[in-house]
Formats: sequence, C-alpha cells, structure tokens
Amino acid sequence: MLIIVGSRREGNSYNLANKVKEAFTSERINSEIIIPGNQRIHLCTGCMDCEETGVCDFKDDMEKDIEKILKEDIIMFITPTRWNLLSGDLKIFMDRLNPLYSRKLLKGKKALLVAIGSKSKDEYSANEAIQSLRSFLESAGMNCLLTKEFDECLDFKDILSKTEEVYSFIEDIKKIAKEN
Ligand SMILES: Cc1cc2nc3c(=O)[nH]c(=O)nc-3n(C[C@H](O)[C@H](O)[C@H](O)COP(=O)(O)O)c2cc1C
Repeated sequence: MLIIVGSRREGNSYNLANKVKEAFTSERINSEIIIPGNQRIHLCTGCMDCEETGVCDFKDDMEKDIEKILKEDIIMFITPTRWNLLSGDLKIFMDRLNPLYSRKLLKGKKALLVAIGSKSKDEYSANEAIQSLRSFLESAGMNCLLTKEFDECLDFKDILSKTEEVYSFIEDIKKIAKEN
C-alpha cells in the first residue's frame, strides 16, 4: 500500500502513517510512505501537454512517484484538514497525476481516505476535507474503500493519544489490505 501524507511536519498525519507502516511490517504487508511536501515537485501549469504525450514535461520527484502509483492497487491519502479542505501539498500532488488520468490509468485503483482536523466532530471540518478528497477520486474513476476522520488533533502528536481509535482503524485497513 502506498501512503501519501499531505503534511510535511512530523505531526498527526505522519505519526498515523508510521503507525500503519509499523503494523503492516509486522504482518508482512508491504507499504511505503510518500510525503510530497518534502519532495521536489513543480506546480502543474495546466499546459495539457500530458493529454497528448501521457507524461509531464517537468522532470522532478513525481517521475518516481508516478511509477509507484502505477504499480500499486491501493493508495491511502492522509490529509490534515486545511480550511475544511485537503492540504495544498496533497492538491499539488494530485494535479501532477493528470498524466495518469489522461491515459485512464487511475481508473479502478482503490483508495482509503483519511482526514485529520483540530476541531470537534460537531464542526464537520474533517468531513469537508474528506469530501474534497472524494471529489478527486470520483473525477479520476478511483474506488473509495474506506473513509476515516480523526477530530480534535491540533498538536503534533495528539493522534497518538487516541490509542483505541487508531488501533481500530489499523485493524480495519489490515483487513482491507489482506482482502485486496
Ligand atoms: C492553515 C491551516 C488551516 C487549518 N484549517 C483547519 C480546519 O479547517 N479545520 C480543522 O479542524 N483544523 C484545521 N487546521 C488544523 C490542522 O488540521 C490540525 O492541526 C492537524 O492535526 C494537522 O495535521 P498534521 O499534524 O499532520 O500537520 C488547520 C491548520 C492549518 C495550519
């Protein structure tokens, strides 16, 4: 499973991704974390050359990310909630997937969507972030296997105090990884 982390700080998204990776390693399930914010990724200019050629004119870290996405069936996106939306880092990454979209190469891939926010559940903030991720999946023809929101996570490690919630989430995704 590829885990795309939408935050560049070693905070809640990163800590959750690491917990997933640790759990997967102990079950001998392959996983890899990508943090687009720590990579060299140019902004999509919308030139649309990729619609013709199937590749982006920019030569940067997206080249190897795209190879990994092509090989992987299940992709997990973890976003911090930003203004009720997905993070900018994740959006930049998604825009650069247009070469795959143009060749219908994202179609049928499976995704797990996670949003982490600082607000409470009543404020529906992470829920809106999930909706923004869902819109991407729908446009790309990808299938959503699971969505999960973590609320009330503001500081770097708040998510690690939600032991039971994280444990139950990891159990759910281990099951999904084994079934798919
Ligand atoms: C620019 C910015 C906008 C944010 N907007 C929201 C928001 O709309 N709703 C929310 O619940 N939290 C919001 N937050 C808080 C983060 O979602 C929260 O701290 C989260 O745990 C950060 O994840 P990270 O530790 O993986 O970076 C925002 C944080 C920043 C920096």
